[in-house]
Amino acid sequence: MKDLRTIILAAGKGTRMKSDVPKVLHQVCGVPIIQYVLDVTKAVGSEKNYVVLGHKSDTIQNYLPDDIITVQQKKLLGTADAVRSTESQLKSYRGDVLILCGDTPLLTRETIKSLVKKHRSAKNSCTFLTGVVHEPQGYGRIIRDQKGRPVAIREDKDASGLEREIAEINAGVYCFQSRDLFEMLNLVEKNPLKKEFYLTDVIELLTDRGKKVQTIQTENFSETLGVNSRADLAQSEAVIRRRILNECMNKGVSIIDPNTTYINADVKIGRDTVIKPFTVIESDVRVGENCSIGPFARLRPGTRIGNSVEIGNFSEVSRTKIGESSIMKHFGFLGDTTVGKHVNVGAGTVTANYDGENKNPTKIADGAFIGSDSILVAPVKVGKKAVVGAGSVVVKTNLPDNSIAMGVPARVTKRRESS
Ligand code: UD1
Ligand code: CA
Repeated sequence: MKDLRTIILAAGKGTRMKSDVPKVLHQVCGVPIIQYVLDVTKAVGSEKNYVVLGHKSDTIQNYLPDDIITVQQKKLLGTADAVRSTESQLKSYRGDVLILCGDTPLLTRETIKSLVKKHRSAKNSCTFLTGVVHEPQGYGRIIRDQKGRPVAIREDKDASGLEREIAEINAGVYCFQSRDLFEMLNLVEKNPLKKEFYLTDVIELLTDRGKKVQTIQTENFSETLGVNSRADLAQSEAVIRRRILNECMNKGVSIIDPNTTYINADVKIGRDTVIKPFTVIESDVRVGENCSIGPFARLRPGTRIGNSVEIGNFSEVSRTKIGESSIMKHFGFLGDTTVGKHVNVGAGTVTANYDGENKNPTKIADGAFIGSDSILVAPVKVGKKAVVGAGSVVVKTNLPDNSIAMGVPARVTKRRESS
């Protein structure tokens, strides 16, 4: 969107997380919290994004993509001070700025889009998001005049008894005309109680000067949840997990039991695939069309599953590619493995991919048959249509095409007759 830039505030300490990991890098469905905020700004077409960093800024900076501009807030002197630290970057900019917090993973693009839309069509100086909640404690309250216009935001600590009764609160999401914003920021005074500069004081400064300020109210206040604690983290995980499952179902994937299915945010699954109960699909996994996964399956990062593959109960698959129409119907483990097409991986097959120092690869070519309870001590290659007899231990060997191998350690004993 033309003339729209975003400032994301992420300098805070996140003390209540009780963590060595910066708050915005804690993961929700396999993706850091701040990534959800960045995705929203991208979706609304923000031209440039500034992230304000302070506490543990190096770690966060390492995570952020190159096109994000980072700004250091030297001392954590409050939200107004945080925004003001971007002033030199935005000095000659005359468009709108969106201000978001780095710890709100549930905000949707639709909400932000409607905020910007209202801001622009009403030609407001500031438009911000509010919500009506049962427990407004801790939030800034919206003060309105007799005509219902917002005139100030009163922080919890500064609110009078009557003001504390107000259920409409500030969600911390704003769209400002950049020029007005920075002009007012320089007039914000340090709050005597908290010894901080409040961004929320800008609202009163603007309305005192006759500038137009409006709000939009979210229908779904849970969207604005800021993650402050591990409990908040779990709450966001539950919301996003549902969104991911719904999106999969909307794209033609059957999820038999959403209550027991865990799929990370960046997973892609093809249509007509059925995900059975108690299945966990972690980040960086792709599953083709017409597959059957689970119950009780775990697909770990780096897994690529082709079309019409069947993965049954108690199967774990990691950094592994499985070709079309192959089956692994029962318990087992495949790691660092490439499986061709039409392969049968018998019950209890284990690739011993780690020798204590290195992870070694296993290759199982098209049409191979791995008998039950076999261990493939990598590196191993199983040729096309080769057979590994039940209970074999194949130790760092290449089995030729059409061979039949068995025993401990496995040796080639025969060739298959028909091929
Ligand atoms: C803020 C709002 C409050 C609103 C609430 C919504 C102010 C003064 N109050 O309160 O009206 O209801 O959000 O969640 O703005 N940050 C910095 N630098 C700082 C201080 C904070 O970057 O010096 C960042 C934090 O990392 C966080 C965001 O600003 O991402 C909000 O700060 P926080 O201290 O959580 O504000 P609240 O007290 O929740
Ligand atoms: Ca907060």
